[in-house]
Amino acid sequence: MKISVIGLGYLGATHAVAMAKLGHSIIGIDKDQAKVESLKNGQIPFFEPGLSEALKEVIKEGKVQFQASYDENSASADLHFLCVGTPQSPDGSANTSYLYAAIEDLAPYLSNTAVVVGKSTVPVGTAQSLKEKLQQLTGFEPRLIWNPEFLREGTALEDSLRPDRIVIGYWHKEDSFPLLVAYEKLIQAGSPVVELDVPTAELVKVAANAFLATKVSFINAMAEVAEVVGADAVALSKAIGYDERIGNKFLRSGIGFGGGCLPKDIRGFIARAEELGVGQALSFLKEIDGINERRRTRVVQLAKQELGNLTGKKITVLGISFKPNSDDLRESPALEIARSLANAGAAVTVTDPKALHGLTDSNLTAVSDALEALSNAELVILGTEWEEFRSLDPAAAKTKVSKATIIDGRNVLDVSAWQKAGWKVIALGRTIQND
Ligand code: UDX
Repeated sequence: MKISVIGLGYLGATHAVAMAKLGHSIIGIDKDQAKVESLKNGQIPFFEPGLSEALKEVIKEGKVQFQASYDENSASADLHFLCVGTPQSPDGSANTSYLYAAIEDLAPYLSNTAVVVGKSTVPVGTAQSLKEKLQQLTGFEPRLIWNPEFLREGTALEDSLRPDRIVIGYWHKEDSFPLLVAYEKLIQAGSPVVELDVPTAELVKVAANAFLATKVSFINAMAEVAEVVGADAVALSKAIGYDERIGNKFLRSGIGFGGGCLPKDIRGFIARAEELGVGQALSFLKEIDGINERRRTRVVQLAKQELGNLTGKKITVLGISFKPNSDDLRESPALEIARSLANAGAAVTVTDPKALHGLTDSNLTAVSDALEALSNAELVILGTEWEEFRSLDPAAAKTKVSKATIIDGRNVLDVSAWQKAGWKVIALGRTIQND
């Protein structure tokens, strides 16, 4: 099939490559000329394992082309996927202006047979209003359906090619048929299709992210309690996770969630519920956000407990991306902790296998080699659980620092191995005896 993908950020670039890998002919469109040029050259403008290689492959096969504007060629696509971003506005709501701009640009090229497929994460009700706008612009009833995307950074391509469900919201069932054809291989490989009305399809995405955020903040709330009573949140998570109704996934305590989705989506969801007059139903999500923020503050508090006044104290933060296998710094808990420590006067060095290129803070010293980054540190904080940091040799690390104290912000270190090598280990939600 001929498919246009509008918006080539994380979602769009991955989707374009995934659709091309399924054998379709893709036209990727983004107003950002630099992004278009980079993609044309087989360069993904962010780090995502396997994606650059897959892009190069589909370029070589002639399956994908990228351009900065719409034309007669893109107009003849059977499906137009809307993949533009919906960033957080200053008041917390989702900014949908890029979606409206995209359909304004698309409208003059839209035929009444092509199907527009919304994939961006949106406040419930957006699809209806986009549809009305498109109708105004084109003079016919557009075929618009909603198909939210659940990919995770770090496993984005895999998630796109093996989705755990395909959610499709429509007003007219027949509008979903071309999408079912486009996804035929995924469906044959076993991904279940969930057909819904449009508002429910819009809600599925924000509800799923709200639930995931709630799970993480739940265990982090337990960690707050555990710290006071001398209990262990990691053991607690394992014990409650045996109950299949609870499950142990997404129940890892630590410095909390970040990234381009979870924090923004819960805030956008709260804002939309308030607009709709059902704010109280989601007021608990404010606490979910609050618990998440408090974990970051807790690390700064622990640093002060260890070092006293932070002015001039040398602290190394291992990892600044919001999670491993990503160079995304948006809402990164590790980076925010590094910034708070620097603002409190500490001399902060940060290291990360992939994300240092995105660092713009002049008061953080970036060092790419992890062991070197530890030089003379009086406190080390594990902020992102990259394999490189998890497998650090504690004995080698000890030779670099001036004081062997580490705060495990992700609860991934082998505490006894680090202690045996002479380290004092502090971990969130755990009471660790150090001699
Ligand atoms: C998320 C959703 O998982 C995905 O379905 C959606 O499409 C986009 O948002 P992503 O932002 O890539 O994906 O990150 P995810 O793997 O969900 O992790 C989010 C954050 O939660 C990370 O900062 C991670 O470190 C943190 N986290 C996750 C925990 O602190 N504990 C956990 O147990 C799990």
